[in-house]
Amino acid sequence: MKLKGKHIILGITGSIAAYKAAILVRLLVKEGAEVKVIMTPYGKEFITPVTLATLSKNTVLTDFFKYDDGSWNSHVELGLWADLMLIAPVTANTISKMAHGLCDNLLITTYLSARCPVMLAPAMDLDMFQHPSTLKNLEIVRSYGNIIIEPSSGELASGLEGKGRMEEPEVILEKVVEFLTAQGSQKKKLKGKKILITAGPSHENIDPVRFIGNASSGKMGIAIADSLASSGAEVHLVLGPVHHKPLNKSVKIYPVVSAEQMYEQCIRLFAGCDAAVMAAAVADYTPANPVSEKMKKSRGNLSIELKPTKDIAYELGRVKKPGQILVGFALETINEIENARKKLNTKNFDFIVLNSLREKGAGFGTDTNKITIIDRQDHQELYDLKPKAEVAFDIVEKLISYF
Ligand code: PMT
Repeated sequence: MKLKGKHIILGITGSIAAYKAAILVRLLVKEGAEVKVIMTPYGKEFITPVTLATLSKNTVLTDFFKYDDGSWNSHVELGLWADLMLIAPVTANTISKMAHGLCDNLLITTYLSARCPVMLAPAMDLDMFQHPSTLKNLEIVRSYGNIIIEPSSGELASGLEGKGRMEEPEVILEKVVEFLTAQGSQKKKLKGKKILITAGPSHENIDPVRFIGNASSGKMGIAIADSLASSGAEVHLVLGPVHHKPLNKSVKIYPVVSAEQMYEQCIRLFAGCDAAVMAAAVADYTPANPVSEKMKKSRGNLSIELKPTKDIAYELGRVKKPGQILVGFALETINEIENARKKLNTKNFDFIVLNSLREKGAGFGTDTNKITIIDRQDHQELYDLKPKAEVAFDIVEKLISYF
């Protein structure tokens, strides 16, 4: 029984795929999970609460209040009870509410109160799935750390063929087991370890209103910070100017803007750390003579003299003591492996995470990444394209193996 003792909230929304939820409940219960079902009002139109209550052996929750005795269902308690919230099927309507914080039913209020991981198995017609608003909303909920179980392609209830079919219950079960088992195996493995991580870009001022920067969103490094924290580490995140923050409240954040500020924080913190992960995209050059007033436009070309910034990773690699682990990143566009190997050696990394801008869905700004990990024995591990939260998990697994 792979889910013994696990508490799972299964959310069901108004889609024809709701009929598969009965099988899903059965499979989850068979694996030892305790399942509480919450349905949206439209969900009840597609499958009856009686069926799901019988299979889950728990009352199915649909309303905030019980109108006959005046008692109410606490979304806060439900959110705290669960080890995992799984919404299968989830419609475009519910994804949109989740993305924007609307909470007009018990399922969504529980979602907003839940502290546990959330997995979503979308189901909708192919045109709805491909609509820019659905894709944008999926991107937003992914940025909250929610895991999407991609729908498969095939015949849809409308008669059309394409992507939008909710994954089969057996596949969803497999993903749930895989996720919860991996979480359990990583939990607390880094307890007592203090880890430094850099994330985001650096901005190098030209004048008070202009800077040299890059497109790093900080998502990769922030996902690693969250994953390290959920493995029990004390995490110190030196974070460049970005719009995202870690979900885990225990992560200590040091906001910085320039490469120089990032360097100073890292040098100060590294001495007391067991490991450092360098995920930031630090500028290699900075204006040699930034000016204090806004530069005026003139007709001719403009040249700005640049000087090299300090290489933080190189410096940490130089002062690294035995027992300290240093993990680097390489962002490449050509000769990826060769360039990453060079950085691994020059900067004295224990292993390097290579991501290439030639891979679709990898690198800057995306919610996904595709990495290769190279170690000092030149072992190369290639990973699939995955959400950054899962990539972070793989990197943390690798780091754990060094302690
Ligand atoms: O933030 P996201 O939008 O999620 O994108 C993630 C990412 C693409 C930024 C991330 O996955 C990544 O690749 N980060 C490293 C980017 C980079 O600057 O790579 P590099 O090959 O130029 O640098 C090599 C290593 O030296 C990196 O670990 C870098 O952090 C470090 N470095 C570089 C220059 C410098 N002055 N100081 C450094 O510490």
